[in-house]
Amino acid sequence: AENGKLNVAIDGPAGAGKSTVARRVASKLSYVYVDTGAMYRAVTYYMLRHEIKPEEVDTVLAHVRKLDIELIPAEGGQKVFLNGEEVSGPIRSREVTGVVSLYSQIEDLRHHLVEMQRKMALRKGVVMDGRDIGTTVLPDAEVKIFMTASVRERALRRFKELDKTEEVTLDQLEREIAARDKLDQEREVSPLRQAEDAFVLDTTSMSIDEVVEHIVTRCMEVRGEV
Ligand code: DC
Repeated sequence: AENGKLNVAIDGPAGAGKSTVARRVASKLSYVYVDTGAMYRAVTYYMLRHEIKPEEVDTVLAHVRKLDIELIPAEGGQKVFLNGEEVSGPIRSREVTGVVSLYSQIEDLRHHLVEMQRKMALRKGVVMDGRDIGTTVLPDAEVKIFMTASVRERALRRFKELDKTEEVTLDQLEREIAARDKLDQEREVSPLRQAEDAFVLDTTSMSIDEVVEHIVTRCMEVRGEV
């Protein structure tokens, strides 16, 4: 881009640490962080609240087209607003997490969110994380990272960041993550898969700092600064 900025796509399965890493990479580069999972979560939260089931595709779509979803960069991450109301906390509940994959499978819903995501990246300088960023949303992103970690390690990371009022065991989390991986990988529309030109980063035994450094270095290489 003429402003010298790149787009960075970070994909990978649930709990690989994408959001923490993407946020920190964005902050180091002074780029904008876009958490696309939060958009799917916000839609899911809305549908649950209005008792609209994922099978009611037409109703889901009619509502989604009128929904105002805003991602506002904030200290330590981003705030999510749904029709003007902040939902940053509630969209992370296990209730939402448990069914978000069901809504994420709706093809036209994905098209709608993908369009919004592309617009957010038009001016470059965006670090976007999700499942289909390098493959579908921003196939021309200059830097594409596919972050993975073992299921056990991902469960452990989620466990540590859990709201301790939610009673859940590590094994339970591990099972939930494995089930969500399966749904995300096997859905027909934009399944989770790595772009052919993505760099695969297995973070199982890497620290967050190491992962962030790695990605920032790749960005600087691409910008010709190293
Ligand atoms: O990254 P996350 O756990 O907040 O994502 C929530 C869900 O949204 C996850 O089950 C997969 C789905 N998702 C998606 O289908 N495509 C994206 N680009 C981002 C998330």
